[in-house]
Amino acid sequence: MAKFSHKTIEKNSILLLVLTLIVVSIGGLVEIVPLFWIKSTIEEVDGVRPYTPLELAGRNIYVREGCYNCHSQMVRSLRSEVDRYGHYSLAAESMYDHPFQWGSKRTGPDLARLGNKYSDEWHRLHMAAPRSVVPESVMPGYPFLAKTPLDMRTIKEVIAANATVGVPYDEAMIENAAADLLAQLDPYGDIDGLMERYGDNVAIRDFDGNPRMVSELDALIAYLQVLGTFVDFNAYNEQAAGNER
Ligand code: HEC
Repeated sequence: MAKFSHKTIEKNSILLLVLTLIVVSIGGLVEIVPLFWIKSTIEEVDGVRPYTPLELAGRNIYVREGCYNCHSQMVRSLRSEVDRYGHYSLAAESMYDHPFQWGSKRTGPDLARLGNKYSDEWHRLHMAAPRSVVPESVMPGYPFLAKTPLDMRTIKEVIAANATVGVPYDEAMIENAAADLLAQLDPYGDIDGLMERYGDNVAIRDFDGNPRMVSELDALIAYLQVLGTFVDFNAYNEQAAGNER
């Protein structure tokens, strides 16, 4: 009786093929099957919150104007990028972005860590006429944003649409969308509802320097100033002190 050995497999190509397939599929299944049971592959990180209505309106202007054609919003985990822009982007930081703005083109710098880098005043000047603050800039000006009233008619629907695709906006956030948008622009007004719904990490002020008008620039600067500011990386850096690079 022929003894069954490795030689048997090597000599029988069909058997070899069948056994190879079985071994390879075990590896494949171990990788793929768990994905069908977990809800998300994104690790949640403290501090990441949905955008306020004003920030979201600004984000829509960013998308409408095609800023992503020249700006990315993702710091890669390369030393040159981390040195220039700050901590590399985490998946959780764009988990509420629909559509995400990672981009693939950098005519201008990455904007993922832009928030709080400049004053509102700098942004006002820069958006109206980039060369007034950065003489060598090739960025076009968007002076009309300061003069165009923000269209708030659809903000409730915008919030509701984001809720539909999984952003955790609740009924109260949808109902109060327009009120919350206006509340964020007025530090002397009634901001309790806004803070209750979005937490205390919300910048409340007039962003375009013109309190008499709610402009598209108000919304855009509110959005630019919040980019990359949700996660407190100092806390993480202290934890990892000594392990970093
Ligand atoms: C044609 C390409 C182009 C487009 C479109 C463009 N930018 Fe820029 N942007 C640049 C360049 C180049 C710079 C660097 C020079 C400068 O600061 O102006 C820049 C710089 C910036 C900066 C300063 C970043 C920093 O860290 O110093 C901000 C903020 C910015 N852009 C916002 C926007 C927004 C918002 C839009 C859309 C409304 C936009 N850009 C559209 C090319 C562009």
